[in-house]
Amino acid sequence: MKIVHAASELFPYMKTGGLADAVGALSGSLADNGHEVSVFLPGYRAVLEHKDALGAERKLRLKIEMGPAYLSGDVRVFSPRKNLNVYLICREEYFDRRGAYGNGERDYEDNADRFIFFCKGVVETLRLAELQADIVHSHDWQAALLPLLLREAERRQHLTLALKTIFTIHNIAFQGVFPAKVFARTNLPDELFHIDGLEYYSQINLMKGGILFADRVTTVSPRYAKEIQTAEFGCGLEGVVQTRTDDLVGLLNGVDTAIWNPATDALLPARYSQTNMSGKQVCRAELLKRAGFAPDFKGPVFGIVCRLTEQKGVDLLLANRDFFLKQDCRLVVLGSGDKRMETELEELAAATPKKVALSSKHDESMSHLIEAGADFFLMPSLFEPCGLNQMYSQVYGTIPVVSRVGGLADTVIDADEHADVGTGIMCEPTVASLRQALHRALRLYADKPRLAAVQKHGMARDFSWKAASGAYERLYEEAM
Ligand code: ADP
Ligand code: GLC
Repeated sequence: MKIVHAASELFPYMKTGGLADAVGALSGSLADNGHEVSVFLPGYRAVLEHKDALGAERKLRLKIEMGPAYLSGDVRVFSPRKNLNVYLICREEYFDRRGAYGNGERDYEDNADRFIFFCKGVVETLRLAELQADIVHSHDWQAALLPLLLREAERRQHLTLALKTIFTIHNIAFQGVFPAKVFARTNLPDELFHIDGLEYYSQINLMKGGILFADRVTTVSPRYAKEIQTAEFGCGLEGVVQTRTDDLVGLLNGVDTAIWNPATDALLPARYSQTNMSGKQVCRAELLKRAGFAPDFKGPVFGIVCRLTEQKGVDLLLANRDFFLKQDCRLVVLGSGDKRMETELEELAAATPKKVALSSKHDESMSHLIEAGADFFLMPSLFEPCGLNQMYSQVYGTIPVVSRVGGLADTVIDADEHADVGTGIMCEPTVASLRQALHRALRLYADKPRLAAVQKHGMARDFSWKAASGAYERLYEEAM
């Protein structure tokens, strides 16, 4: 099949979270399976500076209609692996910046224009390069307008650019809602600014466009597919999602084992596997050292790697701060984002420098070291579309402590409820339930044979993209 993906993040070129990992692994896996895959990404500064893109060929010049004006841009292409082309939609004014969405303090004010331009650039490239896609698959609000813009271009110009369009919701909490005046820049017919179109409480909602106009809609776990049809998790779009239930499916992400595998991970000080776990102890000692603790500490080490946002349950953790003060354990946090949460975690680390450490930056190698070196990985999310770190944890023999929501509920098996196959500790997303889960972790840690069994169950699971990408292949075929 000829498969086109469009997204605002792609590992290893631009990443703020799991979207990058998921799009990178899915497109790579489809390419390995012999499909002809093109991935479209904005031409951010970081991508253009990446070694893979240095020789990128300038393939096309673009003239994109944005409201009453035409804006220029160009398209660069490079091929990082067989069967895979990365197309960069470039315009310096929009993408020659350090961040994908903002400057660290706040979002860029022209994000609507940046990503409308991106989607239009994809459509125009499909036309000019005559890619003749079987499937055009777009991800999250930044690429949500693509199915609609594509069909509109086909209608106006009497041509076919793609057989079927797919839209994946990685997180319905981010919808791309902007003031109504932005609608003019889409150049779509006025009747689409309507309750059955892009209009949302007098504003424009880009994700709504993806949900309504793609041929098929997917999200990243079966449980989240159900959750987003409810008021509790739908973030106001539950009614819109409900109109597409027949075309909606939840497909779990996988783990890219070329990058996340303790037996081959080059970012670790030592490697290990189920049959020889000694390397995990080396990683643990290194993690303790890097966090500023004594490397021979014998008690349990808890790790966290996440964007600091409400979603990740950071406040539940902070409300349990006395657990970390009282118990003989260590906590290593890697995360940045919300400034208040960052400050509160800094205060906790300053109050207990011998027990809690915080690193508030994006650090790929530290994220691997935490997955490998910690005994428990904390992920008490309030909601979680899929979540990758709980899967990485299981693969690395690190026991996930997760709340029973979304993809966490679909990928972790509670060790007390299912002693023979359990891989983690599950709780409800509340302060008290997390507290109980933390105490269960202490008890499990004290029972070394059981601890080893739970680790083993996790490491034996197959989270590879083989299964995950197969599910997408079947969806594509079925849609066509
Ligand atoms: P989300 O996409 O909601 O952030 P996921 O669990 O799907 O959550 O994916 C998060 C990804 O981002 C993981 O690969 C995780 O290791 C990575 N990550 C998050 N914060 C950091 C950080 N500060 N440094 C390095 N990697 C991070
Ligand atoms: C989003 C979700 C996360 C998911 C990731 C990749 O960022 O928050 O749960 O794993 O997308 O699909």
